[in-house]
Amino acid sequence: MKYILSPSLLSADFARLEKDIRLCENNNVSYLHIDVMDGHFVPNISIGVPVVKSIRKCTKLVLDVHLMISQPEKYIKAFAEVGSDIINIHYEAEGDKISLLKEIRAMGKSPALTIKPKTSYKEVLDLAEYVDMFLVMSVEPGFGGQSFIESTLKNAEGLAEYREKNSLSYDIEMDGGINADNAAAPLDSGVNIIVAGSAIFGASDPEGEIKSFNKILNRYEEMQ
Ligand code: DX5
Ligand code: ZN
Repeated sequence: MKYILSPSLLSADFARLEKDIRLCENNNVSYLHIDVMDGHFVPNISIGVPVVKSIRKCTKLVLDVHLMISQPEKYIKAFAEVGSDIINIHYEAEGDKISLLKEIRAMGKSPALTIKPKTSYKEVLDLAEYVDMFLVMSVEPGFGGQSFIESTLKNAEGLAEYREKNSLSYDIEMDGGINADNAAAPLDSGVNIIVAGSAIFGASDPEGEIKSFNKILNRYEEMQ
């Protein structure tokens, strides 16, 4: 299994996104996590389709797009067309999840399903065959810079156990409140993709933070 860092641009400098993207590229980062918020599914508004389009033109990194929006069915096509690679929809959002995940796949994109901290992994096991990745939220979606919610580790553990028992191969990503000091807990719970926003872009030395994450992820990769 690949261990991957997906830096969240939500905490980057939006006026200088290219600079932060180059920083990621120059430090062996392969994913970029892009948080899309509609002010309805979550009480915040962030970035939308035109920004993803511009980011796509500027980098070949895997665009891991996290849609925190109530009606993904209205927008997944647009996010696919501008070059998203992974499209994460929320289990708690509106619409039939199986059709939406199938639609993402049919557009040649990687379908992923996200669960909020209070949703149990048990609710989404039936959807495992339709996803390449589960995204487990370790904070309430909507804002960067919150504290990690420990109880969400059981969602990662449950998904990892189910993956093992059924010889499946989906990725498990965790998002929210993760830094280089607490990343071991999710990784020990079966997570293989770590999202980090403020821990990287809010740090005085973002490059040093990426390197610290890379060191930890390399260790887990070697331990397999
Ligand atoms: C929160 C977003 C996260 C956020 C993580 O709703 O989904 O991706 O950027 O930020 P940190 O790492 O600061 O918790
Ligand atoms: Zn996110």
